[in-house]
Amino acid sequence: MGHRVLVAVGGGAAAMKSPFVVRRLLEAGYEVRVLASPRALAFTTETALALASGHEVATETRWFEPHGRALHLDLAAWADLVLVAPATAAALARAATGLAEDLLTATIVGGARQVLWAPAMNPEMWHHPTTQANVRRLKALGHGFAGPVHGAMASVGEAEGLGRMVEPEDLVAHVRRALAPKDLEGLHFLITAGPTREHLDPVRFLSNPSSGKMGFALAEAARDRGAKVVLVSGPTALPAPFDVTLVRVESALQMRQAVLDHFEQSDVVIMAAAVADWRPAEKLPEKEAKSGREKTLHLVANPDILAELGTMKAGRVLVGFAMETGHGLERAFAKVKRKNLDFICLNHPTQPETAFGGDTNRIVVVFPDGRTESLGLASKRELADRILDRVRGSIQQRV
Ligand code: CTP
Repeated sequence: MGHRVLVAVGGGAAAMKSPFVVRRLLEAGYEVRVLASPRALAFTTETALALASGHEVATETRWFEPHGRALHLDLAAWADLVLVAPATAAALARAATGLAEDLLTATIVGGARQVLWAPAMNPEMWHHPTTQANVRRLKALGHGFAGPVHGAMASVGEAEGLGRMVEPEDLVAHVRRALAPKDLEGLHFLITAGPTREHLDPVRFLSNPSSGKMGFALAEAARDRGAKVVLVSGPTALPAPFDVTLVRVESALQMRQAVLDHFEQSDVVIMAAAVADWRPAEKLPEKEAKSGREKTLHLVANPDILAELGTMKAGRVLVGFAMETGHGLERAFAKVKRKNLDFICLNHPTQPETAFGGDTNRIVVVFPDGRTESLGLASKRELADRILDRVRGSIQQRV
């Protein structure tokens, strides 16, 4: 990581959230500087932005202070990405026409390498043909857009609509995507995530504590690197990632069907879901009342989806996950061969930093030739990228 992001704060009400945008970017590991337009400082303050970023804020009054090169050229050269958040209709118009009479536009025209706009304005302004023409023009110039999204406007009493700025934490996801290498462009990924639920009756089920975070992180990382992604997920509390086709399922049988529906078009399949190995032999149509007596459940085996895919693999890359409470290397090695996989990601849910539901994990990759590679302890997102690097390795071996 370590990319440099210049947050350029435009003069809209959403500038109130810009200090949070800065903070979220810093937390995600970016180097951050801030530029604020004069009108932005009617909605937030220089102090708030300086405190959030830990640096002096670039403002119009500092533009031509004597310090070697002009500030707009310095900022453009410094930033890997300029995130305009919020972006007003006026800023879009100025940038689209090269009207570099203010510090923000001058920085963009002054050689910014990559620009990502996070528009915020009322829906009338967003939908206005002039604004839309400017957006098209900027897109044609290679600029990126995050939002706007549908939601409440800043002024009380104003109707909801399309024009709200993407929330600060989601903007980080857009920045990450903009800065990611596009080394998986043109590939179709099919990824599974989460647990499955195997119902006994309408209100009871067998399941496991999988949160889905690893599979979702893989889907987002693959999307960011240019892949088209279908994510088949069991029940999770996670929001749908943008620009990913999300298919929600409940049971292992439904997951199998959804996976088979998308298998044909896929180049890479990663089964990160914790699929239940058994399901009740029958699902009762009505809730069963308690009897106070012992009860025996009759379970039948679920199909092993990954093993089935292994028999139809052809040229695809196939990746599995293995969860072992013991040592597990030999078992993982046996599994990678039996299921005809390119590799399997072995993890141990019994340690605190790798427990179910956490944001970190520790993974050892096991290859069919017996090689193993430790991906270390890291955030699930970081591990997702390391796994995708191995996927690329498998693809490169094929050509
Ligand atoms: N998997 C699957 N279908 C199942 C069970 C598991 O596709 N019915 C996939 C998981 O998504 C994961 C891998 O297979 O990628 C995990 O296999 P695991 O359940 O550990 O393998 P088993 O052979 O079932 O392990 P064990 O022998 O411990 O049950």
